[in-house]
Amino acid sequence: MFAKSLFALATLAVAASAANFKRVACPSGHTASHAACCAFEALRDDLQANLFGGVCGEEAHESLRLAFHDAIGFSKKLGPSAGGGADGSALAFPDVEPNFPANLGIADSVDFLTPFGAAHNVSAGDLIQFAAAVGITNCPGAPRLGFLAGRPPPKAPSIIGLVPEPQDNVTSILERMEDGGGFSPAEVIALLSSHSIARSDHVDPTIGAVPFDSTPFVYDTQVFLEVLLKGTGFPGTGPNQGEVQSPLPLSSGQNVGELRLQSDFALARDARTACTWQGFINEQSLMASRFQAAMAKLAVIGQNTRELVDCSDVIPAALPAVKKPATFPAGTSEKDVERSCFATPFPTLSADRGPATLIPHCPPSQGGDADDCDSDEGSL
Ligand code: HEM
Ligand SMILES: *[C@@H]1O[C@H](CO)[C@@H](O)[C@H](O)[C@H]1NC(C)=O
Ligand SMILES: *[C@@H]1O[C@H](CO)[C@@H](O)[C@H](O)[C@H]1NC(C)=O
Repeated sequence: MFAKSLFALATLAVAASAANFKRVACPSGHTASHAACCAFEALRDDLQANLFGGVCGEEAHESLRLAFHDAIGFSKKLGPSAGGGADGSALAFPDVEPNFPANLGIADSVDFLTPFGAAHNVSAGDLIQFAAAVGITNCPGAPRLGFLAGRPPPKAPSIIGLVPEPQDNVTSILERMEDGGGFSPAEVIALLSSHSIARSDHVDPTIGAVPFDSTPFVYDTQVFLEVLLKGTGFPGTGPNQGEVQSPLPLSSGQNVGELRLQSDFALARDARTACTWQGFINEQSLMASRFQAAMAKLAVIGQNTRELVDCSDVIPAALPAVKKPATFPAGTSEKDVERSCFATPFPTLSADRGPATLIPHCPPSQGGDADDCDSDEGSL
């Protein structure tokens, strides 16, 4: 009797683990962990081959920004009528959200992603979060994000005013991020590591593809260091709304200097967030894992996760981080740090040598600071 029930238990266990590893056949001939994941294998290959081109460039950056702007269209306080969160409304209603002032430039990513949604028959919400997760795997050092599939089509666009703007003060940004996604101040800073792979096209309308740190094609911790350095000038015609002086304004042709957002400046120095900010400097794996966790929250804002299917195994492996510690960009040093956290020591870093830093416009694989590369789409 005892032996028999043990045997029964053992069979059950085998059946359960077999179910976990059972893969389904997709129409393409591949297998997937679930039938709902099949479409994403083909979509991934199409995005990599025909949109991102394996580069951490403009399209990867813009897809990540779109994932945030779509998802934050949600409000606990105002209720479901304010927006459905990570539902794809920014893409499915291209004449509404992309026209909000806080979404300047979002139309680019909506335009380039829309045909992929149609070709692969995936929902707008899935397409946006999936493209962001796939795109950043081209950025050395970025974590491999998870991906849940099955967001239903959005019901309506979200209302205006839910996307934070660089001229907003810290209190209103932290309140909005809490109301929109339940994000703590520390999670907001983790999400802002995305500004390590980011360039502005619209803050200063006279210059395009203006980086927020000196290494916009790798996901590294430089942004957390550079935003703490004393500002010395503007890369273009600043100050514009939401812009403050940057430490690396030097420009030469298409290689435009760094731009600093007023919101990044303020969050780096505010008592509520300064220690989290400083704590990411030269802490690549800490930064990457906190970002990964916060993005998992962001990707399902407003969604019922019990109805989604885990297709994380479709996301390509992450690229290893570049093996370079954070450094003071050439021309800057520890004397330029505007230290705002005193609870923990400031990390000891070396300074790059050579002439004052000029940030290349093109990703290294497209010729570094060559005059022309296809990474300037969307600029000007
Ligand atoms: C919380 C407050 C935030 C503010 C005020 C803010 C503001 C901005 C602004 C003004 C730009 C430049 C847009 C342009 O001129 O073209 C930008 C770019 C960007 N942001 Fe943020 N952002 C915030 C949070 C986030 C978050 C949470 C993410 C992602 C998780 C994100 C990802 C990006 C990316 C990837 C870009 C670069 C887009 C590109 O290179 O084309 N941002 N952000
Ligand atoms: C597209 O996907 C929807 C929802 O999953 C499904 O009902 C529909 O049959 C699909 N259409 C095509 C042409 O495959
Ligand atoms: C922050 O901005 C909000 C909204 O504009 C405003 O009501 C509030 O007074 C500001 N707070 C501070 C401390 O400036």
